[in-house]
Amino acid sequence: METFAVIIGVLAAIALLLFLMSRVIGSPQSAWVQSDERARALVEERIRPIGRLITDPDQLDVPVQVADVPQPMDEPDATTAMSGADVYTSACGTCHTQGIAGAPVTGDVEGWEARIAQGMDILYQHSIEGFLGEAGYMPPKGGRLDLSDDDVRAAVDFMVEQAGG
Ligand code: HEC
Repeated sequence: METFAVIIGVLAAIALLLFLMSRVIGSPQSAWVQSDERARALVEERIRPIGRLITDPDQLDVPVQVADVPQPMDEPDATTAMSGADVYTSACGTCHTQGIAGAPVTGDVEGWEARIAQGMDILYQHSIEGFLGEAGYMPPKGGRLDLSDDDVRAAVDFMVEQAGG
Protein backbone atom coordinates (compact mmCIF):
# COMPACT_ATOMS: atom_id res chain seq x y z
CA MET A 1 0.00 0.00 0.00
CA GLU A 2 2.82 2.36 0.86
CA THR A 3 4.67 1.65 -2.37
CA PHE A 4 1.44 2.29 -4.21
CA ALA A 5 1.00 5.67 -2.55
CA VAL A 6 4.59 6.59 -3.41
CA ILE A 7 4.12 5.67 -7.05
CA ILE A 8 0.90 7.67 -7.29
CA GLY A 9 2.65 10.61 -5.61
CA VAL A 10 5.55 10.49 -8.07
CA LEU A 11 3.17 10.25 -11.04
CA ALA A 12 1.15 13.21 -9.76
CA ALA A 13 4.35 15.21 -9.34
CA ILE A 14 5.41 14.41 -12.91
CA ALA A 15 1.97 15.41 -14.21
CA LEU A 16 2.17 18.70 -12.34
CA LEU A 17 5.67 19.31 -13.67
CA LEU A 18 4.53 18.70 -17.25
CA PHE A 19 1.59 21.03 -16.74
CA LEU A 20 3.84 23.82 -15.42
CA MET A 21 6.34 23.29 -18.23
CA SER A 22 3.64 23.57 -20.86
CA ARG A 23 2.45 26.82 -19.26
CA VAL A 24 5.98 28.22 -19.23
CA ILE A 25 6.59 27.28 -22.86
CA GLY A 26 3.06 28.10 -24.04
CA SER A 27 2.46 31.57 -22.66
CA PRO A 28 5.24 33.42 -24.54
CA GLN A 29 4.13 31.51 -27.63
CA SER A 30 0.54 32.69 -27.40
CA ALA A 31 1.73 36.23 -26.66
CA TRP A 32 3.81 36.01 -29.82
CA VAL A 33 0.85 34.73 -31.85
CA GLN A 34 -1.28 37.62 -30.64
CA SER A 35 1.31 40.21 -31.54
CA ASP A 36 2.26 38.71 -34.90
CA GLU A 37 0.36 40.24 -37.81
CA ARG A 38 0.57 37.20 -40.05
CA ALA A 39 -0.61 34.82 -37.36
CA ARG A 40 -3.52 37.12 -36.58
CA ALA A 41 -4.39 37.34 -40.28
CA LEU A 42 -4.42 33.57 -40.52
CA VAL A 43 -6.83 33.33 -37.60
CA GLU A 44 -9.05 36.07 -39.04
CA GLU A 45 -9.07 34.18 -42.31
CA ARG A 46 -10.23 31.00 -40.62
CA ILE A 47 -13.03 32.59 -38.61
CA ARG A 48 -14.30 35.16 -41.10
CA PRO A 49 -18.02 35.05 -41.90
CA ILE A 50 -18.96 33.44 -45.20
CA GLY A 51 -21.36 36.17 -46.17
CA ARG A 52 -23.08 39.38 -45.17
CA LEU A 53 -26.80 40.10 -45.14
CA ILE A 54 -27.66 43.65 -46.17
CA THR A 55 -31.04 44.91 -45.06
CA ASP A 56 -30.42 48.59 -45.75
CA PRO A 57 -31.60 49.30 -49.34
CA ASP A 58 -29.24 52.29 -49.60
CA GLN A 59 -26.28 50.03 -49.28
CA LEU A 60 -27.35 47.60 -51.94
CA ASP A 61 -25.02 48.96 -54.60
CA VAL A 62 -22.05 48.44 -52.35
CA PRO A 63 -20.29 45.43 -53.78
CA VAL A 64 -21.07 42.55 -51.52
CA GLN A 65 -18.13 40.50 -50.45
CA VAL A 66 -18.80 36.87 -50.23
CA ALA A 67 -15.97 34.68 -49.16
CA ASP A 68 -15.19 31.68 -51.27
CA VAL A 69 -17.66 29.13 -50.08
CA PRO A 70 -16.23 25.68 -50.51
CA GLN A 71 -18.04 24.03 -53.39
CA PRO A 72 -19.81 20.78 -52.68
CA MET A 73 -18.03 17.87 -54.25
CA ASP A 74 -18.99 17.12 -57.80
CA GLU A 75 -22.17 15.14 -58.08
CA PRO A 76 -21.42 11.54 -58.79
CA ASP A 77 -21.85 10.78 -62.44
CA ALA A 78 -25.47 9.85 -62.97
CA THR A 79 -24.70 7.79 -66.01
CA THR A 80 -24.35 4.08 -65.79
CA ALA A 81 -21.55 2.97 -63.53
CA MET A 82 -23.01 -0.47 -62.91
CA SER A 83 -23.51 -3.25 -65.38
CA GLY A 84 -27.01 -4.46 -66.16
CA ALA A 85 -26.36 -7.59 -64.14
CA ASP A 86 -25.28 -5.52 -61.12
CA VAL A 87 -28.36 -3.33 -61.31
CA TYR A 88 -30.51 -6.43 -61.68
CA THR A 89 -28.99 -8.07 -58.62
CA SER A 90 -29.32 -5.01 -56.44
CA ALA A 91 -32.72 -3.73 -57.57
CA CYS A 92 -34.73 -6.22 -59.60
CA GLY A 93 -33.80 -9.70 -58.44
CA THR A 94 -35.92 -9.47 -55.28
CA CYS A 95 -39.05 -9.89 -57.38
CA HIS A 96 -37.86 -11.22 -60.71
CA THR A 97 -35.67 -14.09 -59.54
CA GLN A 98 -38.51 -15.89 -57.74
CA GLY A 99 -41.43 -14.34 -59.56
CA ILE A 100 -42.71 -12.53 -56.48
CA ALA A 101 -45.97 -10.59 -56.75
CA GLY A 102 -46.54 -11.81 -60.31
CA ALA A 103 -43.20 -10.63 -61.67
CA PRO A 104 -42.09 -12.53 -64.77
CA VAL A 105 -39.25 -14.85 -63.73
CA THR A 106 -35.87 -14.01 -65.19
CA GLY A 107 -34.71 -16.74 -67.57
CA ASP A 108 -38.26 -18.05 -68.14
CA VAL A 109 -38.22 -17.88 -71.93
CA GLU A 110 -41.95 -18.53 -72.44
CA GLY A 111 -42.97 -16.08 -69.76
CA TRP A 112 -41.00 -13.35 -71.46
CA GLU A 113 -41.92 -14.08 -75.08
CA ALA A 114 -45.01 -11.91 -75.24
CA ARG A 115 -43.34 -9.18 -73.23
CA ILE A 116 -40.29 -9.03 -75.47
CA ALA A 117 -42.61 -9.00 -78.49
CA GLN A 118 -43.88 -5.59 -77.32
CA GLY A 119 -40.50 -4.14 -78.21
CA MET A 120 -37.69 -2.81 -76.05
CA ASP A 121 -39.10 0.71 -75.89
CA ILE A 122 -42.21 -0.47 -74.10
CA LEU A 123 -40.17 -2.64 -71.74
CA TYR A 124 -37.89 0.30 -70.92
CA GLN A 125 -40.85 2.58 -70.41
CA HIS A 126 -42.69 0.12 -68.16
CA SER A 127 -39.56 -0.42 -66.10
CA ILE A 128 -38.71 3.26 -65.71
CA GLU A 129 -42.21 4.68 -65.24
CA GLY A 130 -43.77 1.67 -63.57
CA PHE A 131 -46.53 -0.48 -64.94
CA LEU A 132 -49.72 -2.06 -63.69
CA GLY A 133 -50.41 -5.16 -65.78
CA GLU A 134 -52.57 -8.23 -65.47
CA ALA A 135 -49.94 -10.12 -63.55
CA GLY A 136 -49.25 -7.44 -60.96
CA TYR A 137 -47.61 -4.12 -60.29
CA MET A 138 -44.13 -3.28 -61.48
CA PRO A 139 -43.02 -0.24 -59.44
CA PRO A 140 -41.13 2.57 -61.24
CA LYS A 141 -37.46 1.51 -61.44
CA GLY A 142 -38.35 -1.42 -59.20
CA GLY A 143 -38.75 1.10 -56.38
CA ARG A 144 -35.14 2.24 -56.71
CA LEU A 145 -35.62 5.83 -57.80
CA ASP A 146 -31.95 6.53 -57.20
CA LEU A 147 -31.10 4.55 -60.33
CA SER A 148 -30.62 6.46 -63.56
CA ASP A 149 -32.79 5.61 -66.56
CA ASP A 150 -29.72 4.12 -68.21
CA ASP A 151 -29.14 1.82 -65.23
CA VAL A 152 -32.69 0.52 -65.55
CA ARG A 153 -32.35 0.07 -69.32
CA ALA A 154 -29.16 -1.92 -68.77
CA ALA A 155 -31.00 -4.16 -66.31
CA VAL A 156 -33.84 -4.68 -68.79
CA ASP A 157 -31.28 -5.59 -71.47
CA PHE A 158 -29.81 -8.10 -69.05
CA MET A 159 -33.22 -9.63 -68.26
CA VAL A 160 -34.18 -9.85 -71.91
CA GLU A 161 -30.85 -11.52 -72.66
CA GLN A 162 -31.54 -14.08 -69.92
CA ALA A 163 -34.87 -14.85 -71.57
CA GLY A 164 -33.14 -15.52 -74.86
CA GLY A 165 -34.31 -12.24 -76.40
C1 HEC B 1 -41.61 -5.20 -56.24
C2 HEC B 1 -41.37 -6.22 -57.22
C3 HEC B 1 -40.60 -5.82 -58.47
C4 HEC B 1 -39.35 -5.28 -58.56
C5 HEC B 1 -38.39 -4.90 -57.42
C6 HEC B 1 -39.06 -5.15 -59.97
N1 HEC B 1 -40.13 -5.59 -60.71
FE1 HEC B 1 -40.24 -5.66 -62.75
N2 HEC B 1 -42.11 -6.40 -62.61
C7 HEC B 1 -42.78 -6.69 -61.45
C8 HEC B 1 -44.10 -7.22 -61.77
C9 HEC B 1 -45.14 -7.66 -60.77
C10 HEC B 1 -44.19 -7.25 -63.18
C11 HEC B 1 -45.35 -7.75 -64.03
C12 HEC B 1 -46.37 -6.67 -64.27
C13 HEC B 1 -47.46 -7.22 -65.15
O1 HEC B 1 -47.17 -7.60 -66.29
O2 HEC B 1 -48.59 -7.26 -64.67
C14 HEC B 1 -42.91 -6.72 -63.67
C15 HEC B 1 -42.62 -6.61 -65.00
C16 HEC B 1 -41.42 -6.18 -65.50
C17 HEC B 1 -41.09 -6.09 -66.90
C18 HEC B 1 -42.00 -6.42 -68.06
C19 HEC B 1 -42.83 -5.23 -68.41
C20 HEC B 1 -43.77 -5.53 -69.56
O3 HEC B 1 -44.15 -4.56 -70.22
O4 HEC B 1 -44.13 -6.66 -69.76
C21 HEC B 1 -39.81 -5.62 -66.99
C22 HEC B 1 -39.01 -5.34 -68.25
C23 HEC B 1 -39.37 -5.41 -65.64
N3 HEC B 1 -40.34 -5.76 -64.75
C24 HEC B 1 -38.11 -4.91 -65.32
C25 HEC B 1 -37.69 -4.66 -64.02
C26 HEC B 1 -36.43 -4.07 -63.72
C27 HEC B 1 -35.41 -3.61 -64.75
C28 HEC B 1 -36.36 -3.99 -62.37
C29 HEC B 1 -35.24 -3.42 -61.53
C30 HEC B 1 -34.79 -2.09 -61.83
C31 HEC B 1 -37.59 -4.54 -61.82
N4 HEC B 1 -38.37 -4.94 -62.86
C32 HEC B 1 -37.88 -4.64 -60.46
C33 HEC B 1 -42.33 -6.52 -60.16
C34 HEC B 1 -41.08 -6.00 -59.82
